[in-house]
Amino acid sequence: MTGTGRGNGKTLLLGEHAVVYGMPAIAAGIRLGAVATAVRGDAFALRVGAHAGPELRAALEAAAGALGVGPHRVEVEASVPLGSGLGGSAAIGVAVARALLSAQGEAETPERVLTAAGAWEKVFHGNPSGVDAAAAYSGGCIYFTKAAGIEPLFVAVPLRLVVCLAGPPASTKEMVESVQRLGERRPDLLAKSLSGIESLVKNARLCIEAGDVRGLGQLMNYNQMLLSGMFLSTPEIERACAVARESGALGAKLTGAGGGGAVIALCEDTAPIEAALKSDGFSAFSTEIGASLQPGAEP
Ligand code: PMV
Repeated sequence: MTGTGRGNGKTLLLGEHAVVYGMPAIAAGIRLGAVATAVRGDAFALRVGAHAGPELRAALEAAAGALGVGPHRVEVEASVPLGSGLGGSAAIGVAVARALLSAQGEAETPERVLTAAGAWEKVFHGNPSGVDAAAAYSGGCIYFTKAAGIEPLFVAVPLRLVVCLAGPPASTKEMVESVQRLGERRPDLLAKSLSGIESLVKNARLCIEAGDVRGLGQLMNYNQMLLSGMFLSTPEIERACAVARESGALGAKLTGAGGGGAVIALCEDTAPIEAALKSDGFSAFSTEIGASLQPGAEP
């Protein structure tokens, strides 16, 4: 029996990295994602577009192990760019978990999909907070903590975002480890940054629920300052944020692990900001974050 499944890409509106340390983060699904097809086979094999290899196979085995499922051949088509902070790896993990369950004719539950996607993520980065897998599973806009998991957020006014691939691709594992090393060298600095980010995220939740888009933009700018202070920004990220703000964005920041990857800009009208970023040589697209989605639906 053939099974198929989908996972969403995501942006982190605020709270990346702090979420690894138990603070809240706000994530939102985007239209780009991944679709997986699984068929039973003699051995585990996984292909993502043109990519295959031992790490992908190990991740497939980990996900299948968490579901108690035997060998399968799995093909994945990913529209979300990988290594860009848009949750590509988790989108694929969720798609693979769903495809494996569907190939058994089993109905999915959030617990089973998220456990399998968590096992998948651990292969790529040792200490995932789970926010990527949660957003890849739910779509929509969510408030997430490690302790309480997913809380769908009411989005009073649709959030218009330009997503800019500032690049280059970066490794989430390496960036999470760099924050850990910062904490070892400067525990005071890390603790202050994390508690600052926690306040920003809690206020951002109020802004999203009240439709205060300008306030949300300000909080995103402050979050970017704190992330820069944690050495997670790059000249390309700073330039993309500056171009976005100068052309009218209400706020701009890196999204995901940083060290490269993507920038998000919150806008009243996305067209001039997307155009300004493109004319500066960046690749960019626009997306809109609305109310929460049904699990697995296209954002
Ligand atoms: O780069 P991404 O999309 O995988 O972002 C990961 C978010 C982090 O907070 C940096 C790590 C995590 O596990 O939450």
